[in-house]
Amino acid sequence: MIDTIATPGEFTQRWMDPPNFYLAPHLRPFRFTLPRALEILDVIRNDDEVRFTLLGDLDPGIRSTRTRAFRQAPVEEVAQWPFRLVHFHLARFYDDLLAGFQEEVMIPWRTFLSAHGFTWQRCSPLLFLSGPGGHSTYHTDQSHGLVWQIEGAKTFHSYYAPEEVMSAAAAIRCESTGEHPPLHDARTVQAVRMGPGDLLWSHVLTPHWVTGDTTLSMSVNLSHGGLARQGRFAQREQVLRDHWDKHPDEPWLTDLRNARY
Ligand SMILES: [Fe+2]
Repeated sequence: MIDTIATPGEFTQRWMDPPNFYLAPHLRPFRFTLPRALEILDVIRNDDEVRFTLLGDLDPGIRSTRTRAFRQAPVEEVAQWPFRLVHFHLARFYDDLLAGFQEEVMIPWRTFLSAHGFTWQRCSPLLFLSGPGGHSTYHTDQSHGLVWQIEGAKTFHSYYAPEEVMSAAAAIRCESTGEHPPLHDARTVQAVRMGPGDLLWSHVLTPHWVTGDTTLSMSVNLSHGGLARQGRFAQREQVLRDHWDKHPDEPWLTDLRNARY
């Protein structure tokens, strides 16, 4: 079960606490059509900041052949492989592949946040692409995310009561990171099926994992670091701020260089 937030007023109430929720499509202050996932894959695989991971129990020979061929193989063939790909610096493509993204998505979204009393320290888009059977790791993010499913489908798994699974302090110590989620009672998991156009708010420092579908799946996560409203952080983010007060050398290590996925 997942709530759908339908008004800015509900959003300004609900963003402070888990669990995750849908944002109703009409609340989205932007309209933008990205190129098809296959086209994006074909361009972005050649960028030196792309992170590509082959998944599954592949024969070691096939694994190394595919790893070497990832940039040159026909893109239609790559799209059939079980893989995940992330790119955390989409601004590199604002002048060509993603022309208009800054003006049509990022500025309207930041304007929406600003108009409703929010401030932040980082707000940038992250790209997630996966092939058939692709999945993310089990992890937490040091940011709130607006997950925008663009093409294909996936299921976003998190917990109804993350505090019962992992404290913010444990998440900050990265105790959640692993290739697969730990054993859990399925009734405690909020499994959200996402199709094209769906928008999910993912709460900061809550453990989650994402499973893909049978086809290419593409989403963009608008990631927010240091999000506050009227000077107040969400409680889990406040734990992070308190941690940084005691470890002032660490905030510099938590930007996109160390984002987990
Ligand atoms: Fe994440």
